[in-house]
Amino acid sequence: MSALKDVDHLNETEARDEHTRLAREIGKHDKAYYQDDAPKISDAVYDGLRQRLIAIEARFPQFVDLFSPTQRVGAAPSGKFGEITHAVPMLSLGNAFNDEDVEDFVARIRRFLGLDEHEKIEITAEPKIDGLSANLRYEKGQLVSGATRGDGATGEDVTRNLMTLKDIPHALPGNDWPEVLEVRGEVYMSHEDFAALNARQVELGRPEYKNPRNAAAGSLRQIDPSVTAQRPLRFFAYAWGELSQPLSGSQFDAVHRFDAWGFQTNSHMKKCGSVAEILEVYHGIEAQRASLGYDIDGVVYKVDRLDWQERLGFASRAPRWAIAHKFPAEQATTVLEGIDIQVGRTGSLTPVARLKPVTVGGVVVSNVTLHNEDEILRKDVRVGDTVVVQRAGDVIPQIVRVADADRAGRGEAFVFPTECPVCGSHALREHDEKTGKLDAVRRCTGGMVCDAQLSRSLEHFVSRKAFDIEGFGSKQVETFHAEGLVREPSAIFTLRERNISGEIQPPLQEREGWGETSVANLFNAIDERRRISLARLLNALGIRHVGEGTAQLLARTYGSWSSFFAAVRNLSDETVRAELLAVDGIGDTALEALEQYFSEPLNVEALERLTAQLTIEDAEQVSADSPVAGKTVVFTGTLERMTRDEAKAKAQSLGAKVSGSVSKKTDLLIAGPGAGSKAKKAADLGVETITEDAWFELIGEV
Ligand code: IVH
Repeated sequence: MSALKDVDHLNETEARDEHTRLAREIGKHDKAYYQDDAPKISDAVYDGLRQRLIAIEARFPQFVDLFSPTQRVGAAPSGKFGEITHAVPMLSLGNAFNDEDVEDFVARIRRFLGLDEHEKIEITAEPKIDGLSANLRYEKGQLVSGATRGDGATGEDVTRNLMTLKDIPHALPGNDWPEVLEVRGEVYMSHEDFAALNARQVELGRPEYKNPRNAAAGSLRQIDPSVTAQRPLRFFAYAWGELSQPLSGSQFDAVHRFDAWGFQTNSHMKKCGSVAEILEVYHGIEAQRASLGYDIDGVVYKVDRLDWQERLGFASRAPRWAIAHKFPAEQATTVLEGIDIQVGRTGSLTPVARLKPVTVGGVVVSNVTLHNEDEILRKDVRVGDTVVVQRAGDVIPQIVRVADADRAGRGEAFVFPTECPVCGSHALREHDEKTGKLDAVRRCTGGMVCDAQLSRSLEHFVSRKAFDIEGFGSKQVETFHAEGLVREPSAIFTLRERNISGEIQPPLQEREGWGETSVANLFNAIDERRRISLARLLNALGIRHVGEGTAQLLARTYGSWSSFFAAVRNLSDETVRAELLAVDGIGDTALEALEQYFSEPLNVEALERLTAQLTIEDAEQVSADSPVAGKTVVFTGTLERMTRDEAKAKAQSLGAKVSGSVSKKTDLLIAGPGAGSKAKKAADLGVETITEDAWFELIGEV
């Protein structure tokens, strides 16, 4: 080959040709290196090619395109993407499993909006695509970013990968799009493409994908977008995120605006005017399920009027205006090989059926919970039985019944242990004080004496929604616990100090599987989590009935660790109890669990050791900028512009506490016509009282 011309001396045509050639060549070597683990040239020669490409792109930036190797994420497959915080959270959907659930859904909407029974509620029905959702952000008609749903708040930045899908336009035609437009939809793979991809995987000696959904997820989340580009991914648009201008007043019409901008929308979407019509569409789609050419796992219903969607809003993680009607579960039969007893974080003894592995609905199932001893009795499952296993969508698999209950020579009925299989303490079923009923769950009474409880609590403590320490997951903490290095949460944070002082013998770095670097990394990862939000900390403690949601409520209510701690240590005080019970979402059960937890001196001492190691961040106020954030409000009288449920949900979304009665703690009474004793009490106590219209004005919704 003749000597290469200096980049500075190339004209544009020569440069373009050379750019194409270099990009192709580098792409080939990248594939050989990263995917096939078989580089064909030395690193130095490879670097030379890249440097020349970079020099050309520096002189002719117009050649930089998506497929240029210089634009690829990361030089090596790090397994990581950047993060994108969704401007509008990506929520999940509630489920309906039968006709009654659908009727309830519509009735709930009617009630919430205060519509009388004759008012027509139009609802769209469309297939629920079994893929993975993505958010595409367009600014001034140009695609600027694309992300996976992630945890709903933050997703992975897969912009370059999404850009390789032919169903995803890079620039929107025309000019009638909002300046900021986020299109949401499902990335999926057709049955035909899935089969072809798996055939290719087999040819290349690579593992096959389990189902089209996994294939789509695996293909989208490739570090190298040129690999994604070779995968036949498709995209259906069905929703939106942030918009600088509304798309329409109707869900149906809004989605159809996507058509004109080059998106694929699902042709099976229909607008329905009654539950009967909705169910007809459901059965119609179900009948076509096998011939659609792609996987669907149900039908999604959405209230068509967008002003109603707005009023309905969200409850926990799903909108009130939409629901997924799932197809019936898939079933399979297999043999029950044994029943194991697992001891949970709160001492619960859970029987788990060990099954001969069987595929149900595309997933291999080998363990299934039997819930509790009554359930075993009720179903009369015995080791050796053939059982029917069922799995519906993302619902956990379950044993439906014994298939051969009348065969001769069945095994003995299962005897549930009355002692903890781990620590030997008594395992009891408590009586519910109020109902007098026997608790369904048998619990180990060993508390923190029980290694299983301790170990599960520690696993929960480091889990993703709790301390989430990088490189220190459930396996690791279990090992450290078993080796006696970590017997309570605070011990995680004293590991470094104890390792340096020689208290830990042999020191971690001398143990198998560890070295200086990995130990230093672990300690740094632990240090990074010394600063923690109040909500995460409360969730991490694993107090019964205080999960992620309740932890968040508590954090928002008390704001800081010190006020929370002061309150829960003082739960015998009626005012403190009343204050806690006034929080929407906190009832007697959580209150009792908190009382029990904080009245145990061992817990309090362990907590004091833990908090001494931490910096606990105060909770953010919800909508701190809303004029009613943190205020306690009461609604009374007849409300004319909203129903009571709606009023309450709106106020809570703005960070207000909604109470049912007026007291001196009330900040604001919103009184409609016919307000009686509450208005009087408010006047007596000097609580500010306003009309419904004034309320809308106050919250900026005139
Ligand atoms: S609407 C606020 N429509 O289902 C709700 N979701 O279980 C926005 N999905 O995360 C979602 N097909 O991945 C909607 N036609 C469809 C859908 C659909 C599939 C997925 C989506 C979502 C999940 C919720």
